[in-house]
Amino acid sequence: MGLASCFSALEVVPLTLFTLDAGDFIKLSKARTSPRDHDMISGQKWSIYLLMAVGVWNFVGAGVFGFLINLPIVSYFEVGTTLTANHAHAAMFGVFGMLALAVLVFCLRAMQSDTIWEGTEKFVRVGFRGANAGLALMVILDLFPGGVIQLWDSIANGYWHARRLTFLMGGTYHKLEWLRVVGDMVFLFAGALPITLGALRSVWKRELSPMA
Ligand code: HEM
Repeated sequence: MGLASCFSALEVVPLTLFTLDAGDFIKLSKARTSPRDHDMISGQKWSIYLLMAVGVWNFVGAGVFGFLINLPIVSYFEVGTTLTANHAHAAMFGVFGMLALAVLVFCLRAMQSDTIWEGTEKFVRVGFRGANAGLALMVILDLFPGGVIQLWDSIANGYWHARRLTFLMGGTYHKLEWLRVVGDMVFLFAGALPITLGALRSVWKRELSPMA
């Protein structure tokens, strides 16, 4: 676990630099550039926003939530509990999921004309907001508070107690799990679904080059 965390921590650095680079792109879009450069930057707006989301989740999910459970004394009581799932969701989808979506959106934009992109962009816009809001709601409504409650119980009554079915299926911990449905639904219907539809639309509406 120590070595894995060490590698994870090392990987935070290039990803942070990556996000700073995306930030520079946004600044560039506001600066006075040639119309061609300006079109290129504003055309790829959503993939740049997704790269910025990578940076935010990298900081919160890997940085804050990862280091939070990394101390041996915390890890001893919490290993494998909901605080792990909290870190795993925020770091794994937040960083690498968003990174994959950034590449997908970059390619979708590059393969279609401005006119076709106008329609596809609506799906991508909703999907970007839905995926980020859904993930944030999962973390805020359930994974983080549920993890803290479970850790508290583990310290107060023992690790075995915090993992008993009676603990997991009752009380505030269980209520929070139900609350999580809100985040899941936003993620699915306002995030995953529109992005899938946007990708399918791109294939459906693709323009075949005269060479094809
Ligand atoms: C983008 C970077 C990262 C990703 C994608 C990531 C992903 C994950 C995942 C999926 C797990 C759960 C593994 C399992 O349940 O078997 C995990 C566990 C863990 N991660 Fe990360 N992680 C990242 C960065 C970090 C950082 C920076 C730290 C702290 C320095 C860290 C510390 C830990 C620890 C201590 C665990 C074990 C927790 C436990 O089992 O209770 N991670 N990570």
